[in-house]
Amino acid sequence: MADMKALPDAERPKAGKAANKFKQSIAAAIDKALAAAAPAEKPKTQTVAFDPSVPGRRPVVGHRHPIAQMIDRIKDIFGRMGFTVAYGPEIELARNNFEALNIPADHPSQDAFDTFYFADDVVLRSQTSTVQIRVMENQKPPVRIIAPGKTYRPDTVDATHCFMFHQVEGLYVDEGVSMADLKAVLTMFAREFFWPEVTIRFRPHFFPFTEPSVEVDVSCALCAGKGCSVCSRKGWIEFGGAGMVDPNVFEVVGYDAEKYTGFAFGLGIDRLVMMKYGIDDIRRFFENDMRFLSQF
Ligand code: PHE
Repeated sequence: MADMKALPDAERPKAGKAANKFKQSIAAAIDKALAAAAPAEKPKTQTVAFDPSVPGRRPVVGHRHPIAQMIDRIKDIFGRMGFTVAYGPEIELARNNFEALNIPADHPSQDAFDTFYFADDVVLRSQTSTVQIRVMENQKPPVRIIAPGKTYRPDTVDATHCFMFHQVEGLYVDEGVSMADLKAVLTMFAREFFWPEVTIRFRPHFFPFTEPSVEVDVSCALCAGKGCSVCSRKGWIEFGGAGMVDPNVFEVVGYDAEKYTGFAFGLGIDRLVMMKYGIDDIRRFFENDMRFLSQF
């Protein structure tokens, strides 16, 4: 095309025409070749960005409630001392909550255990000891059981009281069982549950279904008995009631009180767990605050 200038004027149009035609045929051939070489489909474009280096979202895995964990632990400790586990209903016959435990209808201690009545003779359990009666009526001595569960009380809710608490009742009946055995079993338990140096003490008390009866204190796990805010400067914290099974209870279940003796104890698990971890308020267990629960 550049050399066209050199041609005589007369030949220039003809040559120009031919050159243009040639140029167009080459362009058409190139287009055709390109079209034949192109892939059939266009590649799909990615619409969602995926970055494999971004960390994933870890699913939240829950765990058992601190009280449930400690119930297992308590079962384990007593299990190693030969206690099996017995269960009883939370909705109980009034008879098992009162009369069979030597609390007649006109006895003043019914007040402290006053409870909901579903019918004249059916109540919400307000005693840790009802399972004793069920077990003894169905089994001959020797008996060695613990009964975990819930107890309902007409207690005003505050830092150390609730209308419901978790219990573990214990009962050991055989020939020659004494108060020394009671003390040994509870001492062993406290040492395993808290720490080996812990000591327990008995204070005289009254329960209609045990004689003699005691309240059991454990030396404060937080201050080692020196006195702190958790034990109200006493150095001791009450953790349950206990005593030797009253012969009247044996009579109800048909055990020979001349031949057999036994001890019973009832512990509040919530308080045990509070002591163990230095928790200042029983209500924390029931508020479902994950900041509290996830620590256990
Ligand atoms: N039953 C008593 C209570 O509910 C505790 C207890 C159990 C006391 C066994 C003595 C013996 O408070």
